[in-house]
Amino acid sequence: MKDFDVSALVTGGASGLGEATTRALAARGAAVTILDVQAGRGVALADELGGHTTFVPTDVTDEASVQAAIEDATGKDRPLRIAVNCAGIGWAGRTLGRDGTPHELAPFTRTVMVNLVGTFNVLRLAAAAMARTEPGEDGERGVIVNTASIAAYDGQIGQIAYAASKGGIVGMTLPAARDLAAVGVRVCTIAPGLVDTPLLAGLPEEARTSLAAGIPFPRRLGRPDDYAQLALAIIEQGYLNGEVVRMDAALRMAPR
Ligand SMILES: NC(=O)c1ccc[n+]([C@@H]2O[C@H](COP(=O)([O-])OP(=O)(O)OC[C@H]3O[C@@H](n4cnc5c(N)ncnc54)[C@H](O)[C@@H]3O)[C@@H](O)[C@H]2O)c1
Repeated sequence: MKDFDVSALVTGGASGLGEATTRALAARGAAVTILDVQAGRGVALADELGGHTTFVPTDVTDEASVQAAIEDATGKDRPLRIAVNCAGIGWAGRTLGRDGTPHELAPFTRTVMVNLVGTFNVLRLAAAAMARTEPGEDGERGVIVNTASIAAYDGQIGQIAYAASKGGIVGMTLPAARDLAAVGVRVCTIAPGLVDTPLLAGLPEEARTSLAAGIPFPRRLGRPDDYAQLALAIIEQGYLNGEVVRMDAALRMAPR
C-alpha cells in the first residue's frame, strides 16, 4: 500500500472512531493534526504516535479555534489533503416526554451545533485550505470524510436531536461534493451502525449484547478499526464522491 505523504486532520481524533482513524493515517505516514476538546487524550495520543502527529485543542463549533488547527495542519511540510470529521455528541430525549413535557430546546440546538454545524465549519475551512494546494492526480486536491449515523435513516424513539443532526450531514454530502468539484475536493460520508467506542461503552454489558444480537452479519458490534479502514478506502478510491456509505452489517434499527 502507498504511503500518504500528506497532511491530514481528524476531528474527534482523541477517541473512538477518530482515534482509530488518526492511528491508521499516522501508520500510513500522514502528518495528522488531531482536533478535539479532550486535551488529555489528545496530547497523550500525539505523544504516543510522535513524528508529525500534533494535537490542537479545538472546539469544532468555533471558527477561530478550527482556523488555528487548520493553520497547524497547513504549516507542516506537505499539503493538507485529508480531513475526517468524527467529532460528535449524543443526546437522548423524546419530542414529548411521557408526561407531555416537550423536548428541551437547548440540547437539541447543542446536538445540531456540534454534529452538523461543527462538521460544516471544519468542511468549509478545510476545503478552503485544500483549494490553495497544487492539484495531484486527476486534478484532485483533497478529500473530506464526514460521519453521520444510521440514525439519519432509522432514528429511534428518543433520538430526535441526534437523528436530525446526522440527517443534516447526509443531506449536505452531495451539495458539498458539487460545490467543491470546482476545486477538486471530494466529499463522502460514512453512516456507521453500532461501533464499540467510549460512546457505546457507557451502556451496561447486557444492553451491548442485546444490541449486537440485532445485527445480521457479522453478528458483533463494529470496531473503530472497521471505520478507519473504510475511511482509508474512501480516501484511496478517487472516483467515490458525493456518496454516503452505511457501515452497519445490514442492521436496520427498530423504533426502540
Ligand atoms: N460509536 C457508534 O456506534 C457510532 C455510530 C454512529 C455514528 N457515530 C458517530 O461517530 C462519531 C465518533 O463517535 P465515537 O463513537 O468515536 O465517540 P467518542 O465519544 O469516542 O468520540 C467523539 C470525540 O469527539 C470529541 N468532541 C465532542 N465534541 C467536540 C467538539 N465540540 N469539538 C471537538 N471535538 C469534540 C470528543 O471529545 C470525543 O473525543 C460521532 O460523530 C458519532 O455520532 C458513532
